[in-house]
Amino acid sequence: MEERVIIFDTTLRDGEQSPGASMNAAEKLRLATQLEKLGVDVLEAGFPAASEGDFDAVSKIASKLKKTEVAGLARTSKADIDRAWGAVQHAAKPRIHTFLATSDIHMEYKLNMTRDQVLKTTSESVKYAKSLTDSIEFSAEDASRSDRDFLCKVFEAAIEAGATTINIPDTVGYAIPMEFADLVNYVIDHTPNINKAVVSVHCHNDLGLATANTLAALNSGARQAEVTINGIGERAGNTSLEEVVMSLHTRPNYMPFSSNIKTELIYPTSRLVSMITGIIVQPNKAIVGANAFAHEAGIHQDGVLKNPMTYEIMKPETVGLSASKLVLGKHSGRHALRSHLKEMGYDLSDEELKLVFKKFKELADKKKHVVDEDLEVIVTEGILRTAEIFELEYLHVTSGTTVIPMATVRLFINGRPVQGTGYGNGPIDAAYDCIAKLTGTESELLRFSISAITSGTDAQGEVTVRLKENGLVALGRGADPDIITASVKAYINGLNRLEYLKANPVMATT
Ligand code: KIV
Ligand code: ZN
Repeated sequence: MEERVIIFDTTLRDGEQSPGASMNAAEKLRLATQLEKLGVDVLEAGFPAASEGDFDAVSKIASKLKKTEVAGLARTSKADIDRAWGAVQHAAKPRIHTFLATSDIHMEYKLNMTRDQVLKTTSESVKYAKSLTDSIEFSAEDASRSDRDFLCKVFEAAIEAGATTINIPDTVGYAIPMEFADLVNYVIDHTPNINKAVVSVHCHNDLGLATANTLAALNSGARQAEVTINGIGERAGNTSLEEVVMSLHTRPNYMPFSSNIKTELIYPTSRLVSMITGIIVQPNKAIVGANAFAHEAGIHQDGVLKNPMTYEIMKPETVGLSASKLVLGKHSGRHALRSHLKEMGYDLSDEELKLVFKKFKELADKKKHVVDEDLEVIVTEGILRTAEIFELEYLHVTSGTTVIPMATVRLFINGRPVQGTGYGNGPIDAAYDCIAKLTGTESELLRFSISAITSGTDAQGEVTVRLKENGLVALGRGADPDIITASVKAYINGLNRLEYLKANPVMATT
């Protein structure tokens, strides 16, 4: 009988700490709904004490989800724990997740606390959290670089005070699999009351070992894996959900554990995260990268045609990549669109469908065949973008071999129309010049990249920009069959994200 592993998803918290990956409340709610459908057991919705925006998003998610446990992160102060509880208290299944560092380096330089103080604070804060709700997780930040015996004492105190999950983070991605497996064994063997709590692990990917460390820990007795979709997260990211889940699925002889994840929703969820955060999945990313199931070498293609298992260890359909992508055209009806979107993992309300259908028709007028990738763009652009500070109303460009490129742009800034003209080396440069003047932005364009979503000259162009202002970095994304419009949409999206970041400074403590 396979043992069950609890999947704790932190895409909305640690994942959001990826540079530029901030999401607004509507985007977080949409993603949370998808993660519940995917089957995650626990969803860490955010860090409510970090900002009003985070508190608001966590509260909304907590009120919406019915099956998934919703966790709010808190430092050990009473104020943080109250804030986390305030945000998750209306959840069907609430959890408070509190954390304190236990490594000598963090205690000395970051916390300025002694071991005794850390022990006492752990006990008091967990006790306080326990007075508010039952499900309490305690994380020993930088556990993998902590003195093992001290770590076990802290965990013992946390469990004694009421922690139901104790989490062993490899905060800086320093551990290697044999060592991390040994650490988990050590904690299990040297924490006297360990049988009263679930052992969890939370790995970062600085050495590219987050998934390997997590699997090694499960083999040693950990039963909760903390993960993010596409492995996004602080610095090099966190353990990726899809890699852990598909490893368990593909190698049951070595990893006899089951999870609650509906694997066929992995790919749509990955795309949704990428669309919302603007973080592109690298093509060779395991499980969800564009090349993960592509066979280039002739000898491989031949083998796969004869028997897919010659070169495929997983079926693409298992992760939600269907071989035959439905092509919709301008005569396709609302019903066909709804049922296809459902297959893609988007269960839209009538109101949302109305909007998406309108945008779909507009695109189908410009482009003969609308494919899944186009629909993803429509869904995320159409229903996830809530009222934003800057909105594009109108764009006109003049360009060619004999004229100075010029752009006229009309924007709404907080609903107020403004219009201007800009010049540049090319039409995109001209449009950006105009938008910069209209918005007064002081941001620097760090990166601009453009690619086609599908093949063919009528393909939608997809533009990603990276903007920086006063140390804040935001990604912007836009798509359109007209690449200049796509570029303008991406710039405006990036500027809106910068405004969101300014209003919701992300936490600087973890
Ligand atoms: O990496 C880390 O240590 C964390 C903790 C807050 C669990 O994210
Ligand atoms: Zn982390």
